[in-house]
Amino acid sequence: MFEAIDLKFKNILDIERVSMVDPIVCLIGPSGCGKSTLLRMLNKMEQPDSGAVYYNQTDVSVIAAVELRREVTMLPQTPIIYEGTVRDNLVAGLKLQHRELPDDNKLQEVLDIMYLKLNLDGDTSRLSGGEKQRISLGRVILLDSPVYLLDEPSAALDPANEKRIMDSIVSWIHENNKQLIMVTHAVELAEEYAQQLISMDGGKII
Ligand SMILES: Nc1ncnc2c1ncn2[C@@H]1O[C@H](COP(=O)(O)OP(=O)(O)OP(=O)(O)O)[C@@H](O)[C@H]1O
Ligand SMILES: [Mg+2]
Repeated sequence: MFEAIDLKFKNILDIERVSMVDPIVCLIGPSGCGKSTLLRMLNKMEQPDSGAVYYNQTDVSVIAAVELRREVTMLPQTPIIYEGTVRDNLVAGLKLQHRELPDDNKLQEVLDIMYLKLNLDGDTSRLSGGEKQRISLGRVILLDSPVYLLDEPSAALDPANEKRIMDSIVSWIHENNKQLIMVTHAVELAEEYAQQLISMDGGKII
């Protein structure tokens, strides 16, 4: 769970108090209102000018960034795809953390969660934007961390795919007792999934 108190950052964020304790928290608001900045602050990719963010009651400024990010995994707004195969891309996060690599059955399971019909040995250079986004999601799912920060995970998907993939991620979060804090433009889906819906405008919680 997270809590932010008296959080100020440049002229971008000005948040008196917000807590995020529910399994599914969605952040919505107009473009440029500070959603990504707030999300980035939760795993120390950005530091506030004043105020503090607490993760499970501990001020994140005293938690080492690597340690925090092992528990709190962020999916950035722009998907990252490395040169190589689908398999290379899926296991890239685990490799960075020097962890054991899963067998193909496990990787196939993750492709199924993302509704991706791709060959694990296939090349990633010609994938569509939506496919790249889903591979990036698969990569973070494999990290199996307790908390996920997803920034517009469905932005590159058409409405039908958006719905089934978001359903799939949300079920996975619930089944595995994780927490998901998600920025999304899909307000109707956010209303359907979120136990807590945080609406932002002009750097403030409204
Ligand atoms: N490190 C930074 N330094 C200065 N300005 C920044 C920084 N990061 C973001 N901004 C600005 O802060 C504002 C909020 O950006 P942010 O990316 O948080 O918006 P957002 O709500 O995620 O928008 P979108 O829905 O378009 O992704 C924008 O005006 C952006 O240009
Ligand atoms: Mg953003």
